[in-house]
Amino acid sequence: MAEKAKIAIFISGGGTNMAALLYASRLENSPYDVVLVASNKVDAGGLELAALEGVATFAQSHKGMTREDHDAVMEEAVVDAGADTIVLAGYMRILSDEFVARWEGRIINIHPSLLPKYKGLQTHKRAIEAGDSHGGASVHLVVPELDAGEVLAQAQVAIATDDTPETLGERVKLAEHQLYPRAVADYLSRDYDADYLLDRVRNLALALPETSERESHGAPGFRVGSEKSGKFFAHFNNQHHGSEHIAALVKTSGMDELMNLVEAQPEIYFKPAYYGASGWVGIILNRPGVDWDNVGDWLTRSWRSVAPARLTKLQDAADMF
Ligand code: GAR
Repeated sequence: MAEKAKIAIFISGGGTNMAALLYASRLENSPYDVVLVASNKVDAGGLELAALEGVATFAQSHKGMTREDHDAVMEEAVVDAGADTIVLAGYMRILSDEFVARWEGRIINIHPSLLPKYKGLQTHKRAIEAGDSHGGASVHLVVPELDAGEVLAQAQVAIATDDTPETLGERVKLAEHQLYPRAVADYLSRDYDADYLLDRVRNLALALPETSERESHGAPGFRVGSEKSGKFFAHFNNQHHGSEHIAALVKTSGMDELMNLVEAQPEIYFKPAYYGASGWVGIILNRPGVDWDNVGDWLTRSWRSVAPARLTKLQDAADMF
């Protein structure tokens, strides 16, 4: 099992979803630990429960503060607690765009509707009034636009003819308590899942011109150029030769650059077995917070270093626009 993710949970209210996440984190094989419960309401019920369970808590009212200032205080608590992911569980504050951008892909929310239906408030009332057969809840990534990020998982809840927003809301919460821990666990484990990581590398590599995939020494590799004269510009290694790493291997300019990278950022780069000797660097992928833009840039650079001139010229021309 890989290192566990560390999550900070933000709440504004009773915190029943927080409790579900916390108790699930204590079951065997949970891929995450709860390291902080933070709130914009100093009297949020969930804070007491978290404290009772020995989890660090933090509370700061947003009253009289700008959104940015309040976000900054919350963020400091998250960073101090060593959390790598923020999970919103009934946190009734909109986060500033800058905050969301800094934590891209690392803020998860649960919303009490079947998104994209009923963003915002009064979701159960709106579902009932629309005559929907089902309400439910969605777990999604947070992006600057409200309730609009990628949906990771949903749970449906049948609506009864005599349901009120309150009665429906109660059942939706029961479903949320099942859904949220599972969805968070799945999302956080995919960062360590070789198939998922290979998929991402593959998508980036094959988006480059005239590329194809071919096995090399039993591992997936990516080539540029024709079937006959093509050259490898990337390899994917899943814990090769006793290494702990799942990694993308790309070409550096040579041993000096390789060793500098490894020395400066050993949490990101390593010198892979065999390939390292000829200047390939490994980018570690099975860790929290991988910067996929950086992986994409490396793949492009590596592609460029072996691609035939007719292709790089085209690419240079395209880059000018
Ligand atoms: C949950 O139903 C959650 O989906 C909702 O608040 C409730 C929090 O309950 N979230 C939103 O409406 C977000 N816009 P809890 O404090 O008992 O977990």
